[in-house]
Amino acid sequence: MKAWMGKIKALILMGLMAVILTGCGKENLTALVPKGYGADESMKLIILTTVIMGGVFLVVVIVLAYVLIRFRRKKGQENYIPKQVEGNKTLETVWTIIPVILVIIMAVPTTLVSFDLADASDSKDHINIDITGNQYWWHFNYQDEDIQTSQDLYVPVGEKVYLNMISSDVIHSFWVPSISGKMDVNPENTNTMYIEAYEEGVYWGKCAELCGPSHSLMDFKVVVVSKEEYEQWVADMKNYDPEKDEPESAVAKEGKDLFEENNCMACHAIGSSPVQVGPNLTNFGNRSRIAGYKETTKENLVNWLKDPEEMKPGNLMTGKYPELNDDEADKIAEYLLQLKVTDVTPDSAGK
Ligand code: CUA
Repeated sequence: MKAWMGKIKALILMGLMAVILTGCGKENLTALVPKGYGADESMKLIILTTVIMGGVFLVVVIVLAYVLIRFRRKKGQENYIPKQVEGNKTLETVWTIIPVILVIIMAVPTTLVSFDLADASDSKDHINIDITGNQYWWHFNYQDEDIQTSQDLYVPVGEKVYLNMISSDVIHSFWVPSISGKMDVNPENTNTMYIEAYEEGVYWGKCAELCGPSHSLMDFKVVVVSKEEYEQWVADMKNYDPEKDEPESAVAKEGKDLFEENNCMACHAIGSSPVQVGPNLTNFGNRSRIAGYKETTKENLVNWLKDPEEMKPGNLMTGKYPELNDDEADKIAEYLLQLKVTDVTPDSAGK
């Protein structure tokens, strides 16, 4: 009896843990709290399929429990063999037709939503952004605005934004769970989908296709701002002229020289240059993360510059420049962190 009680307690505990753990997701990184059109439609499909599957599960469990109890072997009937039956046309027809109907009920809306989200027929009337997936970062090219940037994707709230996605190397997958479903990012062809965010804020994006040792660190942000803030951001990014921008502090100035001496510009553009061997750094100081996932602090940036491999294994920056000493890394970090071109930032979004 005691062992039996123990098992029941363990089961209750496991159930409780499952309930508690489902609450551990971040609010801006979950498909269960939709904040955009695609995520909202997906949520409706999740509910529809869960209800149907839950119903099927319940019916099966009830029938099974009934049969197990009603027809269990009773005392004194150990040698009793029930009447042997085989085949039942009506039953077999019913349990073939019901699942077919259920599959149709789930398949029709799923197919309609899939086609809807991939429909780019009105893309000319909306913002278009070309996205390139790279091991392990994202490049964003705002077609109409001639803005090049990386890692932080700024979009206006409540507007359709078309994303044309291609990869420069292997297959990645673009996923912002709170706003939309996933889209594969292939090297051979451009895949298009649109997103429409309902609420201002910063939403975390993930690469959802295993693409190498730092796949799980290929994070990015979608910064959803008001229409006015978006226009401000576009203007600030467009008006930024790297030629005219001289750092204020002497340390940052030295950092800029070191940045040039080490030929960092061969891979990293600042401004609207289309160079995209490595992330564009125009608004680097405005970003909330270094290497996509580490909090933007000088210490983290110095560590990244000195040993990128440690923070992001398999990245292409490792070994591309001479080893930096503490002083050099500190100066370059000072320079990069002051690359702030706008007041519209992840910190200001949604506030
Ligand atoms: Cu890119 Cu995983």
